[in-house]
Amino acid sequence: MNVYDGERMAEMMQEQGMHAAASREEADLVILNTCHIREKAAEKVYSDIGRLRRKDGSTPTIAVAGCVAQAEGAEIARRAPSVDIVVGPQAYHRLPSLLEEAKTKTKATDCAIDTDMPANSKFDILPDRPRQPRPTAFLTVQEGCDKFCTYCVVPYTRGAEISRSWSAIVDEAKALVDGGVKEITLLGQNVNAWTGEDDKGVMQGLDGLIRALDRINGLERIRYTTSHANDMTQGLIDAHGEVAKLMPYLHLPVQSGSNPILQAMNRNHSVESYLAILEKVRAARPDIALSGDFIVGFPGESDADFEATLDVVRAANYSQAFSFKYSPRPGTPAATMKEQIAPEIMDERLQRLQALLNEQQFAFNRGLNGIDTNILLERKGKKPGQFVGKTPWLTSVHVIAQNVGIGDMIDVHIESAGPNSLQGRVIERKAA
Ligand code: 5AD
Ligand code: SF4
Repeated sequence: MNVYDGERMAEMMQEQGMHAAASREEADLVILNTCHIREKAAEKVYSDIGRLRRKDGSTPTIAVAGCVAQAEGAEIARRAPSVDIVVGPQAYHRLPSLLEEAKTKTKATDCAIDTDMPANSKFDILPDRPRQPRPTAFLTVQEGCDKFCTYCVVPYTRGAEISRSWSAIVDEAKALVDGGVKEITLLGQNVNAWTGEDDKGVMQGLDGLIRALDRINGLERIRYTTSHANDMTQGLIDAHGEVAKLMPYLHLPVQSGSNPILQAMNRNHSVESYLAILEKVRAARPDIALSGDFIVGFPGESDADFEATLDVVRAANYSQAFSFKYSPRPGTPAATMKEQIAPEIMDERLQRLQALLNEQQFAFNRGLNGIDTNILLERKGKKPGQFVGKTPWLTSVHVIAQNVGIGDMIDVHIESAGPNSLQGRVIERKAA
């Protein structure tokens, strides 16, 4: 979502007559779009600010945006006086006026701050998406979270759950496709909690929205991320079996394989209910690739709790997954829970979990070896004539191909599989 927000901010500054600088040294304005999800990500901003000082000792106008801005507000300007603007993720449409305000600054420590969560959505004010040829795009459809998992800052930094309107999303999708986009990934902290009235006034869920996007000519692939188990409706599961453009990939975090830990995390689902959903999704779409998120070392996690996480990974069988050491976040309930886990225990658990997940990823990739499939070419590879594309299951494929370009869908035969990517050979050029 930060990638998406970054694009929207850049587009807005372009509307203000700015353009992307060729290098950091030449930039008049630098916006650092930040993440507060774990401590490491949050601390990064301070070292990045230090690196913005130019050779002659001057600094560009510096804006800190995103969730660190939201969570730390004025504290940022106190810790880093060279910062001119602090703007939260729901207020960045006000960047132009914050820039004006920053210009009036008299003291080095003055800073224009906006961490409001205004009632009028930024989406109503941001300029329309410009035509920009590219193969894939993100599209935020839902923001914020009401789930309040006890480890997580998102409900505080991104605010309450809101769904963008049906028409705003469909219009933005059409504009992206008009510009050449072939694949859209619908984004939300709880994307599958999206609800809204369709153009006939009928309430729809994410599956209804996906079915509407499926009708856009020229759009070839639809993805969505990230989902919560409790919002995985039967309609959405059915869509995986019925909507051809909906890709066979589901990112459905479980976080832990232990019911007591899930309860302490306030996840509001059990291991069994999670696995039951995976079973239903696999029944609807047998080839679906599954992905997830895991946290090791949540307060109170015993050896047995951790072993249960390995068990759920074995039961689910992921094509790819993200795993993290628990990071206490200020203001969240888990940060003050007793029984915080020692760093060396977290390290060891993370290593064991990642070894298992890597094994599963490699096995998944090997399972694709020898098949014919289609890939969307996303970028050039390092070798001459080489392109990198993605399979429907989101695996990267390296292929040498002539007479094709980025954004083309081509058919390939998978010739070999590595732990992180596949090698393919072109079998036929499909009409674009
Ligand atoms: N510590 C570690 N990982 C976290 N995540 C969210 N909050 C924390 C935290 N405090 C992880 C979860 C979530 C992903 C986006 O980040 O796994 O799904
Ligand atoms: Fe954070 Fe996701 Fe839980 Fe919401 S559902 S609180 S975003 S981990």
